[in-house]
Amino acid sequence: MRMYDLIMKKRNGEALTAEEIHYMIDGYTKGEIPDYQMSAFTMAVYFRGMNEEETYHLTMEMANSGELLDLSDIPGIKVDKHSTGGVGDKTSLAVMPLLASFGLKSAKMSGRGLGHTGGTVDKLESFTGFHTEISMDQFMDQVKNVGISIIGQTKDLAPADKKLYALRDVTATVENISLIASSIMSKKLAAGASVILLDVKTGSGAFMKTKEDSESLAREMVKIGKNAGRTMIAVISDMNQPLGNAVGNALEVKEAIATLNGEGPADFTKLVYEIVSEFLIKTGIADTKENAFSMIDEKIRNKEGLEKLAQFVKAQGGNAEEVYHPELLPKAEYVMEIRTEKEGYISRIQCEEIGICSMMLGGGREKKEDLIDPAVGIVLTKKVGNYVKNGDVLALMHYNSAEHIPPLNAVKRFLNAYEFSNEKPDELPLIHGIID
Ligand code: URA
Repeated sequence: MRMYDLIMKKRNGEALTAEEIHYMIDGYTKGEIPDYQMSAFTMAVYFRGMNEEETYHLTMEMANSGELLDLSDIPGIKVDKHSTGGVGDKTSLAVMPLLASFGLKSAKMSGRGLGHTGGTVDKLESFTGFHTEISMDQFMDQVKNVGISIIGQTKDLAPADKKLYALRDVTATVENISLIASSIMSKKLAAGASVILLDVKTGSGAFMKTKEDSESLAREMVKIGKNAGRTMIAVISDMNQPLGNAVGNALEVKEAIATLNGEGPADFTKLVYEIVSEFLIKTGIADTKENAFSMIDEKIRNKEGLEKLAQFVKAQGGNAEEVYHPELLPKAEYVMEIRTEKEGYISRIQCEEIGICSMMLGGGREKKEDLIDPAVGIVLTKKVGNYVKNGDVLALMHYNSAEHIPPLNAVKRFLNAYEFSNEKPDELPLIHGIID
């Protein structure tokens, strides 16, 4: 077999066989197929696409290119919730403790954030002492005993995807649904959970900007997971404005804690309930959505979710007191009210721009090696549909600065992200669909 022939086959719009995909991924992982041939192949896929079978084989080859996490020694149902990433998306911080309070086990491998969306690990590192450099033995023990553990993405997990994703990133070939689906699912399958929920974000702050693309991606991933014998659910959720009110690491942790105390913002609380209830129904813990919702209500009332978060933080070296006293979490030195000079209904918030503003304050990374400041970020006080008058506060900007003023380009960018109308806009749906 020759890589040249496989590139030509795909260039001509033909489908590759399972053997051909094995040859290609195996050779690429071992360094026998060079980047220039692989990038020609991904560009051919970008234009010609891959069918369902090819996408499945590509996923399985990448999942099997490294270590497969064996969670079989851990009693109970192993679950995994994955988000395609969004602004203010702190959902895992509230969902995982609630799932653990029902006895479900989350063994999570998670990366750091890059660009306008934050990573779960970065958010958790707002807790003093919290770290993800734990041994595989501790990781497994903690999943068994606490019900949640999180570790950074190891280089041994789906190494073919790691190499291929980095290549796609610099060759303009990320945006192909088969390639994205196989990339995400190869890591999910290798991480070993039997029930996987994908929160596929859609809108201006998401990777997938349209509902149609988000649905196609969700369907493709659900199909792959089911073919691999996993129980799959995909929730398509809105990312046309930040989720909840807080954007920025410690600020988002505080909002997740408030939600576990029953005091979270309505949209974020609703998404948490939807996701947890889907898990409860799929695992047979609840029979209807209504029952699932009242079971979650009870876990919030009796603080079991909050306690699970505290146990999890403590097990990974963090200060659990900060869960019960979030005012102890990192705080920025300055808070500035951002006021509008416009009047009308907020018709649109360019969501990605808000993520970029938080990054400009130091809350996110532009480059992989950038350090982040856990304390900074933005708390929105007005969202789409609210009516504002000249001088009203749109948000509170939390920042640290030697000059005592926030970066003015961030303030300008923030204000420009808001659009206004005289008519009250239609309410944005939070959930655009559920695919299972
Ligand atoms: N996230 C991934 O892990 N892979 C992609 O291809 C895109 C987003």
